[in-house]
Amino acid sequence: MFVLHVALQGCLRGNNVEYGLTTDTGGHIRYLLDLVEACSSTGQAERIVIATRAFEGFGKDYIKPVESVDGTTSIIRFPTTHPGYLAKEDLHTEIDSFAAGLIAHILAGSTRPDILHAHYADAAVVAARVEDALGIPFVFTGHSLGKVKQKALPSCLSDRGFVERIAAEELALARASLVIASSRDEAELQYKAYDTYDPGKIRVLPPGSDLKAFRGAASSPVVEREMARFLVEPEKPVILAIARPVAKKNLAGLIEAYGKSKPLQAAANLVIVAGSRDDIDALEADMAANLRELLRLIDRYDLYGKVAYPKSHRGEDIPAYYAYARDRRGVFVNPAFNEPFGLTLLEAAAVGLPLVATDSGGPNDIIETCGNGLLVDPRDASGIADALLQIFRSAEMWDRFSASGDRAVKTYDWERHVTRYHGLVRDLVRPPEMPVQRAIQLLISDIDNTLVGSVPHLHAFGNWRRMQENLAFGVATGRSFHSAMAVLEQQDVPRPEVMITSVGSEIYTLSENGVSYEQDEGWLKAIAGNWQRSAVERVLRGVSGLTPQAPLEQRDFKLSYFSDGTHATVERVRSALQNAGVLASVIHSHKRYLDILPIRASKGTAVDHVRRRYGLAENAVFVAGDSGNDIEMLQAIPQSIIVANYSDNLGKLPALKHSYIASNTHAAGIIEGVLHFRNKAKAAGLPV
Ligand code: GLC
Ligand code: MG
Repeated sequence: MFVLHVALQGCLRGNNVEYGLTTDTGGHIRYLLDLVEACSSTGQAERIVIATRAFEGFGKDYIKPVESVDGTTSIIRFPTTHPGYLAKEDLHTEIDSFAAGLIAHILAGSTRPDILHAHYADAAVVAARVEDALGIPFVFTGHSLGKVKQKALPSCLSDRGFVERIAAEELALARASLVIASSRDEAELQYKAYDTYDPGKIRVLPPGSDLKAFRGAASSPVVEREMARFLVEPEKPVILAIARPVAKKNLAGLIEAYGKSKPLQAAANLVIVAGSRDDIDALEADMAANLRELLRLIDRYDLYGKVAYPKSHRGEDIPAYYAYARDRRGVFVNPAFNEPFGLTLLEAAAVGLPLVATDSGGPNDIIETCGNGLLVDPRDASGIADALLQIFRSAEMWDRFSASGDRAVKTYDWERHVTRYHGLVRDLVRPPEMPVQRAIQLLISDIDNTLVGSVPHLHAFGNWRRMQENLAFGVATGRSFHSAMAVLEQQDVPRPEVMITSVGSEIYTLSENGVSYEQDEGWLKAIAGNWQRSAVERVLRGVSGLTPQAPLEQRDFKLSYFSDGTHATVERVRSALQNAGVLASVIHSHKRYLDILPIRASKGTAVDHVRRRYGLAENAVFVAGDSGNDIEMLQAIPQSIIVANYSDNLGKLPALKHSYIASNTHAAGIIEGVLHFRNKAKAAGLPV
């Protein structure tokens, strides 16, 4: 495999990158070099080339036509029309000359790259030119998006180069064969702002993080001494926050939550590590203003002796602060209004601290994959306090969350990233032979606790599935497309031909390239009738026993809540909707999740839609599930399988009398069920 990366911005070189030398010499270069190093050290790529711009004025490193990085990787530089350094805002003027140089270079070379990988939208415009000229497809990583900036700062629309940037991003999304995002927030919300948004093309692959220094961190005398200066009872559990003192990090909201809750003050101390300072008045204006506000709040709620806010610390003290909190069975909090990724949460997780984090941005993914904390609405002070108290009051929960932090270290790892990355790139370049010749049967399975949940069973399922030539395979899940895709790929599940996601409100089918998916727009039209999303939201605001799930779980055709688990709450929801004359289906599962969908949407109706698309008869379909959100589907399909580890009383429901209850759990139960129905059909003399 020969991958050619294109990255035009900043001062890029193979070693000792001078981060911060220019504003564009930043995180995207680190990401690119880490990615490339992992690809080369794991032997996943035979050859890697990074193509960048040559410019004068910063020394000879940046005009060198070829720089060799290691045995696999080299950097090549092309001069463009303008000889000197250019900021990203001005690079659009160089696209023509850069693309021409790159195309000539590829044509002159003896080996041609299998694929291009464009970093940042300007590089995608170059990659699209190369594809037009030479037919080489490209992968795209955005790194940062203009529309996100525009949302925070609408006036940037008139900034130099901004219109060109948005146009380049639209083109990147339209033309790339695959788009790599770092979080669900990026894949599902940030990109959604573009006209050419195509969710089925995007994959969430979190970047690796270097968490080794945090794994076995221990508290230090420096930290213990520092805390003793503030805290009257320094042995108490600790609520720890580490963030720059700027308004968007919302440390003020955390002090409010603590200041207003006597039970929380009784349970724990609050430790806020907010940078180092000499004199607050000498700080940048927004940091100075924020620190003054924090001090004012500490005074207002009279939190002396309970809150620590060290004046300064060294980089190496940070792991010790996490450890100090962990040793006291503390909790790490990130209350930011929006957190793009959440590196501190990964660090805290690696040390073994449970998390309470903002439900806006990257933390969603971290807590979803690690299961090591609770998400909160950063604007809800009592919600923050409740979440913290819940963890402090349950030793079992603290232990479980603390132990689960391990998963962060394993998941947010470059080696894992490149294994998935290469799997995708390889399939794009050499599409795998489609296992399905002509589907004569269709198997649709739920994901959590049905397909996934037992590693050996899943492994056996993969082997079995590869032998089922005429069986089309799909999943039906409550998760969003990107959340589901990440779970399936992390667990090495055979790539499904069909993805029914968000409890049946969205359907995606595998594209011809065998990697990306196409959303079934027809299905959206079919279910849209009678759907009054904002009316549902309004009506349910008045129903007790419900809390909305995180913003990422709310989809165009799915509104999701946590319920208090009682039957009465579900009944109140149904009658509130009925009384308001709002048509919708209400789906309750695991005594916890409550989904509201358009009346025509469910996993069952979605499976039927897919069946018709394949032109199959009803008795050619198998479905498998384990819980409440599978009921519609199990009920609608004659050959339905309930795995042994079912919940929500599924095995005893009269409506599911026809289902086969497997004696095996998880994926083994699915195979058992399919064989059962096939044998039954054979015995009846039907074709199988
Ligand atoms: C998944 C979804 C959640 C939904 C639940 C039950 O966990 O993320 O939003 O409520 O499934 O369908
Ligand atoms: Mg399930």
